[in-house]
Amino acid sequence: MSTNPYGDHGNKDASITNPHGQGTMTPIEDTGPAVPPAPGGPPFLIGDTMTGGYGKGPNILHECTIAVEKGEIAVIVGPNGAGKSTAMKAVFGMLNVREGAVKLDGEDITKLSPPQARVHKGMGFVPQTHNIFTSMTVEENLEMGAFIRTDDIKQTMEQVYELFPILRDKRNQAAGELSGGQRQQVAVGRALMTQPTVLMLDEPTAGVSPIVMDELFDRIIEVARTGISILMVEQNARQALEIADKGYVLVQGGRNAHTGTGKELLADPEVRASFLGGAEQCCVFPYSFFWSPRPPLRWTCWKRPAPKPARRRVALC
Ligand SMILES: Nc1ncnc2c1ncn2[C@@H]1O[C@H](COP(=O)(O)OP(=O)(O)OP(=O)(O)O)[C@@H](O)[C@H]1O
Ligand SMILES: [Mg+2]
Repeated sequence: MSTNPYGDHGNKDASITNPHGQGTMTPIEDTGPAVPPAPGGPPFLIGDTMTGGYGKGPNILHECTIAVEKGEIAVIVGPNGAGKSTAMKAVFGMLNVREGAVKLDGEDITKLSPPQARVHKGMGFVPQTHNIFTSMTVEENLEMGAFIRTDDIKQTMEQVYELFPILRDKRNQAAGELSGGQRQQVAVGRALMTQPTVLMLDEPTAGVSPIVMDELFDRIIEVARTGISILMVEQNARQALEIADKGYVLVQGGRNAHTGTGKELLADPEVRASFLGGAEQCCVFPYSFFWSPRPPLRWTCWKRPAPKPARRRVALC
């Protein structure tokens, strides 16, 4: 057994996190850097065989199950329109779950409404779109995030600024003036202001460059290390599964197609072929042949690009 309490998932470069091995957010329990899942027990948060749709409309989800254990990262991937966002909204109480159940820490919260009631229970949600108040400053966004709290929020805000230092620099700037990556940091920071026990993120890296994506993933790992569970939808499936304890592949109709550890899904030839952009490129022969689309029509060959260099560490900005 590894001495690393975080197991072998995620980025092992300790330089990106607190050198003492713990994130900067307040841990849920004082039990160390990661809270182990209850062995054999039910998941901490589960949307269990959910069937449902919007309003009186048709079912979008069909017996869809997504779950996350305490202090772990669960990733949901799948094609556009599969129902990933709908599954997240169902878990957060934003649409009718007609069959199945949503349970948090063993409690059935399927009928708990409105969604704010789930925030009181410790759930934080960053939706795919419209996840910040663009005309408000960064700091006002964070204050809005803490809307359910009546205690002093300064320390939590300080923790968010430690996690995302650029937000401190930009705290008096309108959030709408920030870059895509910075906006996503505001959105995640806003959700953290309620001190959630589980953080649900719908495509937190949408529209950001690969380097900023890497950095956001590193911060998400750091948050998980404090014991906060992360349930996350991602389009960058391969990279997300690399940091996932558990992965769910959803397909059209909000149906589960594959479920496993991140490692298992990455190694599954069917998942790789259908959802991860094909099998790993063959390294034996570094050339691809293709039919030139323009005259003169002929077979030609193209040298595959060299493998990506090792991940660079840069500040989020
Ligand atoms: N508010 C809504 N009312 C009615 N139908 C909706 C609503 N939002 C989404 N849908 C439908 O639900 C289905 C699943 O959409 P959803 O947004 O959950 O997919 P997704 O997997 O998140 O896709 P993407 O990767 O593009 O974000 C789609 O057919 C969509 O048209
Ligand atoms: Mg979506």
